Amino acid sequence: MTKKEVIEIVKATAPVLQNHGESITKVFYKRLFENHPDLKDIFNMVHQKKGSQQKVLANTIFQYAVHIDKLEMLTRTVETIAQKHSSLSIPKEAYPIVGENLMEAIKDILGEAATPDIVEAWTIAYGDLAAIFIHKEEKIYGDNESSSNGFRGTKEFVITKKVNESDVITSFYLKRKDGKPTPHFIGGQYIAVTIEIPNTSHKHTRNYSLSNSKNDGFYRISIKKEAGNPDGIVSNYFHSNLKVGDTVVAGMPAGDFTLNRKGEKPIVLISGGVGITPLLSICKDAINSKRDVTFIQCALNSNTVAFSEEIEEMLDNPSKLKKIFSLPLDTDKIGDEYDYKGFLSLDMLLDQGLDKESEFYFCGPTPFMANTLRILNTWGVKNQNIYYEFFGPKENLV
Ligand code: HEM
Repeated sequence: MTKKEVIEIVKATAPVLQNHGESITKVFYKRLFENHPDLKDIFNMVHQKKGSQQKVLANTIFQYAVHIDKLEMLTRTVETIAQKHSSLSIPKEAYPIVGENLMEAIKDILGEAATPDIVEAWTIAYGDLAAIFIHKEEKIYGDNESSSNGFRGTKEFVITKKVNESDVITSFYLKRKDGKPTPHFIGGQYIAVTIEIPNTSHKHTRNYSLSNSKNDGFYRISIKKEAGNPDGIVSNYFHSNLKVGDTVVAGMPAGDFTLNRKGEKPIVLISGGVGITPLLSICKDAINSKRDVTFIQCALNSNTVAFSEEIEEMLDNPSKLKKIFSLPLDTDKIGDEYDYKGFLSLDMLLDQGLDKESEFYFCGPTPFMANTLRILNTWGVKNQNIYYEFFGPKENLV
């Protein structure tokens, strides 16, 4: 089959993928975990249960089908996924396994509509996409290995300190077990941490933003205790069971939610809840860049707010930190513990005299992210000045 034929068939079948994408990816992951249960060690099975990973994979494959003849449209998406994959040390040998199970899932859902031509075109197209990821990820692995104190794959880390930051957030300080300093990272990046929890059938891997600064020689991850099971299985184990001296396994830092180093505009960092973690290390880089930095911290109240003092110390002017509490305690006083009550609004940003030509970086729970994006769009902030990151698979905010 020629390249032209592949492109024609893949583009023609894009609407089918849009309609059946999630059914296909649900069957795909079911098959994948049945055939390779060991992969549960690296996938976040909570995302599987919620369907968010199935949704993001379906959407990515659909976007690929639509843009197969202009792949430059997908550069950003491919970079974000490759960063996530590299944090998890996905090996190139896993791609054919994913490809085989994906094609079987397509055949399963489309039935007779999956003609031999369609199957052949998609097999070739998948191989091309896989080659793009493999190339990108191999480059990242190579760069990691040759960086100072860098490594390929994972290393053991020891918990050297555990600090309660608020009623719901606890920080864990991690040092390498082999005694070497931790590799540098860029503010905003995360690591994948794997732990074993007794009486569960597989290991558990989670991505956590690094909340300290890049030259510390250790990593700090700050974890919110999530409610319920399975949502909270890993965070609760961290909070309640893991202690100083325990060992976890972690990979190299990754992620592309980082400061735009070429920028010269003022910087506005907006955090919702535990979304503060990547913004803490971005804030450090922002201060070092000598640009004007404002930090807007949204939290429920003084019981859950974390790191405010640390931010005030970082900023040259502590009043550049503004706190918004959505549910202040009776004892929380406006002007003392917090500056605004309610949810972030455009009026609050205007009240601070912020410049809409600034660069805006935000992270937090999905409804907070959707609200923040809506506010920035309403204000007329240019898309290229808006940066945000999801904890977990990317979702649609509009
Ligand atoms: C061309 C093939 C592939 C595509 C299009 C793809 C796509 C994606 C996407 C869109 C995400 C979500 C990124 C985000 O967090 O927003 C993701 C995450 C992930 N991918 Fe892939 N992927 C591919 C191959 C693979 C392979 C071969 C493996 C290894 C078994 C793999 C393992 C993972 C894991 C473990 C995650 C994180 C899942 C989670 O957080 O629950 N992927 N991938």
